[in-house]
Amino acid sequence: MKITVVGAGNVGATCADVCARKELANEIVLVDIKENFAEGKALDIWETAPIHLYDSRTIGSTNDYSKTAGSEVVVITSGLPRKPGMSRDDLIATNAKIVQSVTENVIKYSPDAKIVVVSNPLDVMTYQAYLTAKIDSNRVFGMAGILDTARYRAFLAEALNVSPKDIQAVLMGGHGDTMVPLPRYTTVGGIPVTEMIDSAKLDAIVERTKKGGGEIVNLLGTSAWYAPGTAAAQMVEAIVRDQKRVFPVCAWLQGEYGMNDIYLGVPVLLGKNGIEKIIELQLNDDEMSLLKESAGHVREVMSVLDNMAVA
Ligand code: NAI
Ligand code: 2OP
Repeated sequence: MKITVVGAGNVGATCADVCARKELANEIVLVDIKENFAEGKALDIWETAPIHLYDSRTIGSTNDYSKTAGSEVVVITSGLPRKPGMSRDDLIATNAKIVQSVTENVIKYSPDAKIVVVSNPLDVMTYQAYLTAKIDSNRVFGMAGILDTARYRAFLAEALNVSPKDIQAVLMGGHGDTMVPLPRYTTVGGIPVTEMIDSAKLDAIVERTKKGGGEIVNLLGTSAWYAPGTAAAQMVEAIVRDQKRVFPVCAWLQGEYGMNDIYLGVPVLLGKNGIEKIIELQLNDDEMSLLKESAGHVREVMSVLDNMAVA
């Protein structure tokens, strides 16, 4: 079993490290365009194996995709991260070209792979990978919902002084400030969150979650990596271990939620075939209108990409 992570930067290296620690594959290949960068990161990760006591071998490659051949899952993190003052959408032109060329190489050497896109703007880079890969949409999807939900759950755990393990939540929509956290579907040890926290505090947490990416960018001067890389590895784990996990994932909608031809965050069942089912929640009118607003924003960025005719 082989897993490839393209982009050996902050998110990619973290994802590879987590995959190796969990022994998700015998071989984890890190690819980067920067000379010797992936080789260096992969060697450093491999040198933790005798400390963490695992057998997965991490291998680096400077743009040589023959080393990725036959990968079961490929995670695409290559691209520029967001800098202060930059929106995710500003990244579109540069990252679309990178995602296109990377996806061409990925599919050439691993035609049966499941592709997990992480590069931003996430929903539209996933669309770019889908256009380029020309494979079934159940095998091309994006990571954002697990990260955004993790932020929401972490903030709630802190506010309630409870274990983050006991907070279950789902969040929908695009990966951006219009994402839609769903308090109605949030529980604390099975108890509706609305019975545990007052509405003003909950509203503040929802707002903080929506701007969670920007909060880290403002603190660090670049975007987050521990939580994003770990979230991508959790998707890899669900696939390679056929766990049938229910996660919010950026998926291609064909009629679900009354929407067509759009990549958007929705709850799915993730297993060995990639997205095995899209779960349709019974949203109320307010939730549905927030989801539509978020979809409208994603469509605007998709049309920027369509007009650029990268694919
Ligand atoms: P980074 O700059 O640390 O790493 C990106 C790596 O991609 C660099 O090492 C670069 O050399 C490499 N790269 C660029 N072009 C390439 C190509 N054609 N082929 C192979 N490698 C190439 O950036 P970081 O922080 O790892 O972020 C990566 C991407 O993930 C960014 O687009 C960022 O915005 C996005 N991101 C998405 C999140 C999400 O929730 N979906 C969360 C966090 C980051
Ligand atoms: C994040 O949410 C910027 O997408 C990146 O951390």
